[in-house]
Parts: sequence; structure tokens; C-alpha cells
Amino acid sequence: AQVVQAEFVKSSVRTEDCPPSDGIPEFALVGRSNVGKSSLLNSLVRRKKLALTSKKPGKTQCINHFRINDSWYLVDLPGYGEELLASCDDVYELSSYEVWLLNQMVINLQPMHQHGTDASIPAKPIDLEYASWLGQNQIPMTLIFTKCDKRKKKKNGGKRPEENVQDFQELIRDFFQTVPPWIMTSSVTNQGRDEILLHMAQLRNY
Ligand code: GTP
Ligand code: MG
Repeated sequence: AQVVQAEFVKSSVRTEDCPPSDGIPEFALVGRSNVGKSSLLNSLVRRKKLALTSKKPGKTQCINHFRINDSWYLVDLPGYGEELLASCDDVYELSSYEVWLLNQMVINLQPMHQHGTDASIPAKPIDLEYASWLGQNQIPMTLIFTKCDKRKKKKNGGKRPEENVQDFQELIRDFFQTVPPWIMTSSVTNQGRDEILLHMAQLRNY
């Protein structure tokens, strides 16, 4: 399941400009801005700067395709709620982005440290909206909790990570027929890297 080759293919402003899928498995990294989508991609492929990252939210502005092992795609996206994703094609019932997303296997990232350090920060409404839409359209989703290295124990009356994961699962439970799998990660320590790669290999072989 390891990555032996990773190459940047294309940056697309519109979904119509994306490389043709041709049945090639694609995994889209979705989540709010700054949760660590691009950093996770770099961690997965063991490259520091293949995808560009920034301390400031809003770094990734386009749909960026990366071809892995010459056989599948990782797709780095802007944070949801950003311009590109909000742009809607009026003619169709679904926006072209949504149509595109229907063909993806979605990796939804949640910043664990926010849940971990401050139990008063629950999932944001946009996270739930998104999860609900994915569930309705039966798009397979995996929940990735990011920045687990940052978690400070018991600070601000924080909950244990397991409890935070459970809270989140509870909120999205009704959207899905089966509870989405979840993985704890850190792009600093590379926690969860092998687990995600193995998980994606299993999904590809369905
Ligand atoms: P957008 O492109 O704006 O949507 O953000 P993004 O989700 O791609 O986030 P990005 O990977 O650019 O990371 C945002 C910030 O979080 C950067 O300063 C990263 O160094 C930091 N970061 C990402 N992952 C981790 C992690 O696992 N641990 C820690 N401590 N910091 C992280
Ligand atoms: Mg990014």
C-alpha cells in the first residue's frame, strides 16, 4: 500500500477541467480550511512540499490532482465553504462540483486538536451539512482526525480523543447507513499514515 511514486498532474479551477477519471480511483481530501489537507497529502507521499501548505487558511485554491503509483489519484481541495466550492451551476440541480464529488471517495478531515483541547468546540454546522450531503448521496467517507500531535491533555476540561471522536460520530450517525471509518493522524509525526494507505488500498480493490 506504500507510495513509491507521486507526481503533480494538474491544477483545475473548474471541475470540467479536471483530468478525466477513466475509472481511476480518486480520493478527495475535503474539510474546512487549515485543517491540514495538503499537509496530510505530503505525509502520505513522504514529500515535504509536493502540495503547498500555509499557516494561513485559504492556501489551496484549486482542485489539485496528484497521481500516485501511476494508478490512482489523491485530490487536494480548497477548504469547503471557499469560493470554488460554493460556485453553483444554476442550470443543473447539482453543482458541477457536486457531480464531480459523486465520483470520489471522500476523505473528510476534522482538526482533532480543536476538539481535544476545547471540548466546547463541537463540529461546525458546515461539517454536518457536508456529512449529511455525502450520506444522502451514498458517497463513501472516511473521517480523518488531524493534528493529533497538538492535543494537550485535560486542558480546558478537554475530553479524551476517543470521547471526541465518539461525539463527532454521534452527530453524523444518522446520515450514514454504516458508521464511517475514522483514523487519527498527524502530519508532524506521520501518525495514521500506514493506516490510511492501507484503508485506501482496500477501498480501491472493491
Ligand atoms: P487550505 O489549503 O487553506 O484549505 O488548508 P489545508 O487544510 O490544506 O491546511 P494545510 O495543510 O495548509 O495546513 C495548515 C496549517 O496546519 C499549516 O501551518 C500546517 O503546518 C499545520 N498542520 C497541518 N497538519 C498538521 C499536523 O498534523 N500537526 C500540526 N501540529 N500542524 C499541522
Ligand atoms: Mg491546502
